[in-house]
Amino acid sequence: MSEKIILTGDRPTGKLHIGHYVGSLRQRVALQNTGEFKKIFIMIADVQALTDNFANPEKVRESVAQVALDYLGVGLDSKKCTIFIQSQIPELTELTTYYLNLVTVSRVGRNPTVKSEISQKGFGESVPLGFFCYPVSQASDITAFKATTVPVGEDQKPMLEQAREIVRKFNEIYSPVLVEPEIYLAKKDACLRLPGTDGKAKMSKSIGNCIYLSDSAKDVRTKVMSMYTDPTHIHKEDPGHIEGNTVFTYLDAFCKKEHFERYLKDYSSLDELKDHYKRGGLGDVQIKKFLASILEEILSPMRERREEYAKDIPAVMEMLHKGSDAARETAAATLDEVKTAMHINYFK
Ligand code: TRP
Repeated sequence: MSEKIILTGDRPTGKLHIGHYVGSLRQRVALQNTGEFKKIFIMIADVQALTDNFANPEKVRESVAQVALDYLGVGLDSKKCTIFIQSQIPELTELTTYYLNLVTVSRVGRNPTVKSEISQKGFGESVPLGFFCYPVSQASDITAFKATTVPVGEDQKPMLEQAREIVRKFNEIYSPVLVEPEIYLAKKDACLRLPGTDGKAKMSKSIGNCIYLSDSAKDVRTKVMSMYTDPTHIHKEDPGHIEGNTVFTYLDAFCKKEHFERYLKDYSSLDELKDHYKRGGLGDVQIKKFLASILEEILSPMRERREEYAKDIPAVMEMLHKGSDAARETAAATLDEVKTAMHINYFK
């Protein structure tokens, strides 16, 4: 078996949505089922969630179980991956302390994701240090497990770059114990940046433009039927635009050829459907109904699985407990090597 190892995770600040699904969860399930990976670690990043939700610990706590249910619902399998909670691995914090020496304030300040989050969250000049340093903590998450492969959304690119820099610097100064990770992204543009149902760039809980993995069939349909399309496409006969049309972006992300066979027999491909829309004569209601059928086909088995697991939350917590114990062993072994490399293993 190869030495490939996956580590990835999500902040527990709410339920996961279909943007998370096409952006990363779908890839994780596929990678899990290739059997190509020696180890797969999936982390619920509560410590990172607290960096900007420190005054809201209840929200973070409640979201831990919700995110675990989303994971199990989409098909991540606790027999094939180690699912764990970040705060239960104190070794990660210890690693962060050592890595902080290897990163400058100005380097983190230039991290584009950190920059945009600072302005989004309205921190202004009052950025909490814990938040500011989270890219370094994220490097600990990744390197503690010697991850080679990190399947995440595109917004995490700068975090991976930062982690790689830390690895190179550590290995150069001390000794080569850390592994340089690579990001694993979704292939299609539509999946990298799935817009909200209102056509805005990002799905966001506060805007209310998300379709959650746990939404009921009825809610999904309602959200799809009121989706943003093309404001210039007023009558069915009008020529329509595909670019920036949320329904078509979602179709790019979710539609497969076989869906036409099942739900829209008059067409045989997405290109054909797009051509008709551009020419005029194809109504929004028809494309929305098509999308709603596709989403329902994909979401319903996940929803059912999620509901099954939700009946026994103590069992889910037990799975996380076992996962955290196992993850801790791996992180502790890496920390040992790190301390040896740094000549601070006095009593060994
Ligand atoms: N930053 C990720 C997010 O916002 C969560 C995360 C924390 C993570 N540590 C990680 C992702 C390590 C991948 C690897 O969802």
